Amino acid sequence: MKKQLSIQYEETTIEDLADQNLKDLIVETIAFAQNAYAPYSNFKVSAGLRLTDGTILKGTNVENASYPVSICAERTLLAHAVSNYPALKITDVVVYVDKDLPTPVPPCGLCRQTLSEVEQRQQSPIRIIMVAKNGDILSVESTVDLLPWSFNASYLA
Ligand code: THU
Repeated sequence: MKKQLSIQYEETTIEDLADQNLKDLIVETIAFAQNAYAPYSNFKVSAGLRLTDGTILKGTNVENASYPVSICAERTLLAHAVSNYPALKITDVVVYVDKDLPTPVPPCGLCRQTLSEVEQRQQSPIRIIMVAKNGDILSVESTVDLLPWSFNASYLA
C-alpha cells in the first residue's frame, strides 16, 4: 500500500504581514545579519526568535577555518535560548539570509532536527518564518512541516 505525507506552508511578503509583533521580529533579525561571522562562505545568516514572555533573541552563523566546526544561525540561537531560558517556550523562529536569492532559504537538516527536538520538548508548535532579502516569506506553523517523519525521543524509550 502506497502512502503519502504532505506538508503545509504559507507564502506572503513582509509588506503584506498584518502581525506587527512578527514584523518587528523580522526587522530585528534582518538587521542582525551584519553580525554573522561567515568569512569562508560569505553566506550571512541570521535567526531570531520570540519567547512566550515576548523576549526576542537573535543569533548568526559562526564559521571556522576548520569548516565542519562552523555552526548555523539557527543552532547558535536555539542553544542560547534553551540554555538561558529553560522555563520559557519559543513561539516563532525567523531565518534570514543576506543574499539576493529568488526564494527564502529553508533551514538545513541539522537545524530542522534541532528545531524538532525543541518543539517536542516544549510540547507546543514553533512557527518558522523564512525571509528572503526581497521581502518574500515562506512559513510553516510547526517544525513537523519542515521535518515530517522525524527521528525523536519516543524511539529511545
Ligand atoms: N547556514 C546557516 O546558518 N543556516 C542554515 O540553515 C543553512 C546554512 C550557514 C552555515 C554556513 O556558515 C553557511 O550558511 C553556508 O553553508
